[in-house]
Amino acid sequence: MSPLPDSPAAKRTFAACLALPLALFACTAAADGDGDGVWKGGENVYAKVCGHCHDTGIGPQVKGRQLPAPYITAVVRHGFRAMPAFPASFIDDDALQQVADYIANAPAPVAKP
Ligand code: HEC
Repeated sequence: MSPLPDSPAAKRTFAACLALPLALFACTAAADGDGDGVWKGGENVYAKVCGHCHDTGIGPQVKGRQLPAPYITAVVRHGFRAMPAFPASFIDDDALQQVADYIANAPAPVAKP
């Protein structure tokens, strides 16, 4: 048995499984936010957007570092090296301010074993 699928149908399933997590991320982000002012506070924005990278090791840890809120909002609006920029149509100014305040004051997460 080869570890990779070899029938065309299995290959399609394999490709769909790879694409699905990305699609789900885009869908949940769009459904819960998308600049309609429907974010439920800074923690909600962090969990729905930032945590996908910043709690998974894709991006650096940002909680518990007393990063200034104006620095955080600037990085999110304009991007910073590998960090993508998020326009106001995606995270409105209010929600951005809330997530920046949330991160600026959040304690460092407990280190995973
Ligand atoms: C697609 C992944 C991704 C998402 C989503 C993401 N970030 Fe980032 N972020 C990164 C990466 C990668 C870096 C490191 C950039 C570099 O140094 O090249 C970064 C860097 C940062 C920095 C600078 C950290 C430092 O050490 O100075 C801040 C602040 C930040 N992100 C805040 C946020 C906030 C707030 C959100 C949610 C609105 C967010 N990020 C969403 C990937 C992401």
